[in-house]
This record gives sequence, structure tokens and C-alpha cells, in this order.
Amino acid sequence: MNIRPENILDYPAITSVNKLGFGGEKEAKLVEIIRSSNGYIPELSLVAEIKDAVVGYIMFSYIDLVNEEQLPVLSLAPMAVHPELQNQGIGSALLERGLELADKRGEALVVVLGYPKLYTPFGFQPSINYQIESPFPVPEDVFMVKTLSGYEEKYKGKVVYPPAFMNF
Ligand SMILES: CC(C)(COP(=O)(O)OP(=O)(O)OC[C@H]1O[C@@H](n2cnc3c(N)ncnc32)[C@H](O)[C@@H]1OP(=O)(O)O)[C@@H](O)C(=O)NCCC(=O)NCCS
Repeated sequence: MNIRPENILDYPAITSVNKLGFGGEKEAKLVEIIRSSNGYIPELSLVAEIKDAVVGYIMFSYIDLVNEEQLPVLSLAPMAVHPELQNQGIGSALLERGLELADKRGEALVVVLGYPKLYTPFGFQPSINYQIESPFPVPEDVFMVKTLSGYEEKYKGKVVYPPAFMNF
């Protein structure tokens, strides 16, 4: 398996893997909206491929953490693996590579809304542990944060997603 940043030729296969992985259109649309926004980070939008076929996808993009200041942090969304290839470590490999690249860029932290079982082994903790608040009412354990090399004490406050994220 190879993991690399996406390019324009991958877009149809990425749409397909997101639709199949999630069983719906919303996440594939979210990817398109993020790509055309200021938050898009091509180097952190990664595909997993096996024999030149895209089998998994992960996207990190910028969102805001707001207190007295407005600080850029990363959102991890969406992540999907082809249904026939789930539970074989592809998602974990995408996550590991993405976090490593984000850390090298000096990013401060990653925010994710997802399964604690998947993210906790990678060092994600409930955001409340860092005094970081979700913009929507969700159980504390599913709104998680992982701090990276650029993290400082000032990274606390409320997460603000662009409007496109709020339909989820
Ligand atoms: C979530 C997803 C991307 C993980 O990719 P994957 O290649 O299947 O993940 P891995 O094989 O690396 O498994 C990683 C861990 O996540 C867990 N996991 C995967 N899907 C899960 C789910 N729906 N609920 C709870 N835990 C889950 C696995 O059990 C595994 O833990 P284990 O090793 O302790 O058993 C993939 O299952 C998927 O595309 N799911 C549908 C889309 C989705 O829900 N994405 C959002 C993620 S928040």
C-alpha cells in the first residue's frame, strides 16, 4: 500500500471511496467544499492506494479555535476506507502518516469528532482535557484533540467550523 497526497486525477476515485465508505453523499460533497476553501491543505489530503487504485482517504483542513485570539488548528474530516477493505489497518496507516506530516509542518493540534476506539491509540484525548469546547452538543468522549509540535498553552477556547461542516 502506498500513501501520498491527492492530485486532481484522484478526485473521482476519492468521491467514490467516500460515498462507499460512508454509504452516502455528504462527506464526498464536504471534500469538494473544503478543496475550494481557504482551509484546504493539499499536502494533508492523502490517498491510500493499492495497485494504483484508491482504497482510502483522509483529509486535514484548517478551522479556527477562538478565544481572545483566533488560532488556526486542523480538523480531521473526512476519513474513509473502501468497505471491502475496512478493519485491515488502512485507516490507521492514513492516520499515522497524516499526523506525522502535520507534526513536521509545526501544526498545533488536530480536532476530530469520531470513534474513541479508533483515535485514542494515536494520542487523541477528549477536547475538554485541553479546555477546548465543541461548537455542538456531543458526548465529551467523541470530540477529541491531539496536540502536535506547535501546541502551546494558549490553544484553548471554542472550535469554530466553516458553515459546510455544520450539516453533519
Ligand atoms: C473508520 C474507518 C476510516 C477506519 O478505517 P479502517 O481501515 O477500517 O481502520 P483500521 O483497520 O485501521 O482499524 C482501526 C481501529 O478502528 C476501529 N474502528 C473502525 N471502524 C469503527 C467503528 N465504526 N466503530 C468503532 N471502531 C471502529 C477498529 O475496530 C480498529 O480498532 P482495533 O484495531 O482495536 O480493532 C473505516 O472503517 C471507514 O471508512 N468507516 C466508514 C466511514 C467512517 O465512519 N468514517 C469516520 C471515522 S470517524
